[in-house]
Amino acid sequence: MREYSVAAVPGDGIGSEVISAGIRVLHAVAARDGGFNLNVENFPWGTDYYLEHGKMMPEDALDTLRAFDAIYFGSAGDPRVPDHISLWGLRLAICQPLDQYANVRPARLLPGIQGPLRDVGPEDLDWVIVRENSEGEYAGVGGRVHSGLADEVGMDVAVFTRSGVERIQRFALELARSRPRKKLTLVTKSNAQRHGMVFWDDVFEKVREDFPDVETDKMLVDAMTTRMVLNPESLDTIVATNLHADVLSDLAAALTGSLGIAPTANLRPERDAPSMFEPIHGSAFDIMGQGIANPIGSFWTAAMMLDHLGETVAAASLMTAVERVTANGDILPRDLGGDASTEQVTDAVIDALEGRNE
Ligand code: IPM
Ligand code: MG
Repeated sequence: MREYSVAAVPGDGIGSEVISAGIRVLHAVAARDGGFNLNVENFPWGTDYYLEHGKMMPEDALDTLRAFDAIYFGSAGDPRVPDHISLWGLRLAICQPLDQYANVRPARLLPGIQGPLRDVGPEDLDWVIVRENSEGEYAGVGGRVHSGLADEVGMDVAVFTRSGVERIQRFALELARSRPRKKLTLVTKSNAQRHGMVFWDDVFEKVREDFPDVETDKMLVDAMTTRMVLNPESLDTIVATNLHADVLSDLAAALTGSLGIAPTANLRPERDAPSMFEPIHGSAFDIMGQGIANPIGSFWTAAMMLDHLGETVAAASLMTAVERVTANGDILPRDLGGDASTEQVTDAVIDALEGRNE
């Protein structure tokens, strides 16, 4: 029996609701597969922990996490604490030191889901956004001085290193190569930002020489938003900086029906540290505790985790089960136009996995 250890960090808001739904589904997938077992340990870190201990997670949290095969993360953010504290104290405090530099965000229209774009179906919208996840606008470099004075200054410096830019572009080119269309779009803003963004373009010109079989093109981020809406079928794999891809991936999620379905993998491709898997949606405090959060993002995320662990057959059967539920359309969460609870959607996916609702 193949054994995997998974650290579950549900975090804030609806995190614990969608992660416990995801764990139920993961156990059902493993039981059905019969070839592997997941040992899940839960870590109650986040804002409640912060209010009690003055930090979002314990000092030795990273050492604890390093011992696991994967991290299954819910969400960070709670109105009782400023967002930049929860983000830097939890999610970025895990991603950055573990150097999970490749943030992978698939976006596609699941069967039966009507996105907001007229006449756009599943065959027209099937993208993977690769987000640089270790530097750029999230490098954490900057400062604030002369507090409260008229000449107060606030600065965040976007930091791009050749090694950081090259490794994410290479990763994205390899991912594009593995997909049927072998197509990659580089997104920058090199008309306005003439240093770091022109650097991204220059590095790309060099790196792509090693991938002659991948068709590439370049877009400025503002024009990219219109292309995503008006010509979604012209895109396949996309690579962009930390902030640009953050913005574009929210747009992508909305165009595929809801932020509630969108998954993410924070990958450490070298596999010398665990990777972290999380739904894109935030902590959604407005619906917390009501049992109505959409768990599909955390199921899709769980499928990405299984894939990364090498359980590709189980990953595919989980996605097929999710797609059966969306295609059927009887049991959908509120953000997808239904009225089903988190538990009902979870039960429906488990039934589909086990072939009970055919
Ligand atoms: C995301 C989120 C985070 C980010 C937030 C919670 C800070 O928007 O994962 O896309 O910007 O990285
Ligand atoms: Mg975001």
